[in-house]
Amino acid sequence: MITVKHLTHEFELGKKGDKTLLPVLHDVSFSVDAGEIVSIIGRSGSGKSTLLNLIGGFIRPKSGQIFIKDQEVSSFSEGQFADFRLNHVGFIFQNFQLIPSMTAYQNVELPLILKGIKELERKRITEETLKRVSLEKFHDHYPSELSGGQQQRVSIARALVLNPPLILADEPTGSLDSETETDLLEFIQQLNKELNITFLIITHDERVAKIGNRIIEIQDGHLIEGGNH
Ligand SMILES: Nc1ncnc2c1ncn2[C@@H]1O[C@H](COP(=O)(O)OP(=O)(O)OP(=O)(O)O)[C@@H](O)[C@H]1O
Ligand SMILES: [Mg+2]
Repeated sequence: MITVKHLTHEFELGKKGDKTLLPVLHDVSFSVDAGEIVSIIGRSGSGKSTLLNLIGGFIRPKSGQIFIKDQEVSSFSEGQFADFRLNHVGFIFQNFQLIPSMTAYQNVELPLILKGIKELERKRITEETLKRVSLEKFHDHYPSELSGGQQQRVSIARALVLNPPLILADEPTGSLDSETETDLLEFIQQLNKELNITFLIITHDERVAKIGNRIIEIQDGHLIEGGNH
């Protein structure tokens, strides 16, 4: 499903004329098979979100290649990546990235509109997805009118709404209480078993790491566990 080959990344810091480079990932290689749940662990600042943002196409690597479903996505243009994501990848951001001027319902409905799904079908799918994350009473709330855990669940619903074969999740349980987390973990396992959805999940939480088949560990930008091919 995912193959990452010799991925290296550095961020540019500072202004023009006074730039420094911050190396963040060094020669990272691993792969994830279809149907797996793989957790990424590592200390704060080790490069986990950077790795997921590279795989999701939100930033471009300095060098190395990323393949998703045998397509070399690291060579895609921004537009190609946006199209590809719509059809193949659900992304749950560490800081949710909800659109503040849209209600919970509209945030979840948006990918369906972008995909050109008709209104009645959109309504059915959006309502069903919000129900799955127990937000049926919060359709009309704007992100600023929701708790952190509720916003997180909206972002999870948005990632799921198109039933993508791959979900990339950056600390999806970070703002949830333990009961809501239990529900979400069961839900992830159910999606994985019933729909064969592949998950790559960054987490600090042992309970989340435990539902995975495999753990990848990043330390200071180096992959120190879970690299294979
Ligand atoms: N857009 C950016 N510009 C410059 N530096 C960045 C940027 N994003 C991340 N960094 C730096 O890259 C390093 C890795 O950041 P990253 O967000 O990948 O860490 P992380 O492992 O996800 O940490 P956490 O567990 O705290 O979320 C950090 O030193 C961070 O300061
Ligand atoms: Mg992070």
